[in-house]
Amino acid sequence: MSKQTQTTRKTVKDIAAAKGGTPLVCLTAYDAPTAALLDEHADLLLVGDSVGMVVHGLPSTVGVTMEMMILHGQAVMRGSEKAFVVVDMPFGSYETNSDQAFLNAARIMKETGCQAVKIESGAYAAAQISHLVERGVPVMGHVGLRPQAINVDGGFRAKGRTADERSRVIAEARAAEAAGAFAIVIEGVAEDLAAEITAGVSCPTIGIGASGACDGQILVTPDLLGLFDWTPKFVRRYASLNATISEAVAAYAGDVRARRFPGTAETYTMRKPES
Ligand code: KIV
Repeated sequence: MSKQTQTTRKTVKDIAAAKGGTPLVCLTAYDAPTAALLDEHADLLLVGDSVGMVVHGLPSTVGVTMEMMILHGQAVMRGSEKAFVVVDMPFGSYETNSDQAFLNAARIMKETGCQAVKIESGAYAAAQISHLVERGVPVMGHVGLRPQAINVDGGFRAKGRTADERSRVIAEARAAEAAGAFAIVIEGVAEDLAAEITAGVSCPTIGIGASGACDGQILVTPDLLGLFDWTPKFVRRYASLNATISEAVAAYAGDVRARRFPGTAETYTMRKPES
């Protein structure tokens, strides 16, 4: 076996085996240094198309491109060694038909080296999922609130509040499972619906704003780190990076203006800073 094939990363089998066991720790990641910090703690890193909103300042994920996903996917693969890495397929890259989905999924896998892709899976996407899985691309599904569909839904709205909508979300999850998805993200649904889906599919479910009834949890990392003034209500902020960054930059600005900044050629070497 060559060195390149000896992977230390978690595999699709490890993720699938977590069904009903210790909850999977999943986080989004978009760049190499953050991926390196998350890698120690996360089972799965998702290069989410949320990158469009939280890194590029777009109003939604609809404007995210293949090029953006590939660039950020490459960075996350470089920064991490252990976690299973999934890259989101952006809006418009898989919906037309199975051939379009395969060409774009194969490009993402080849150019980033990631281990799987994620598709926001309305019922129509089952054909694409089985086409990809049969051809060697592991697929994670995504049901409930689907951010790429906000223009149809009229905004970021929780799902499953009516009987019809509830049946639709259950059907979408079952279709993704039957098509071969190795895991399914459930976003923005009530606990009883998340519990019903989780009990009804054989692959792990990963919740975001969908209660603790799932087999794992995922959060948009900048939300849990408190990088923004606003966060979705369901998110627990574990840090306030916005305040930390603001204070650090204000202190730096003060030093520069007071000519207190001592960098010279003698100190132009790398060191591990004392905290
Ligand atoms: O793009 C993303 O970050 C996601 C998560 C919210 C699951 O799809």
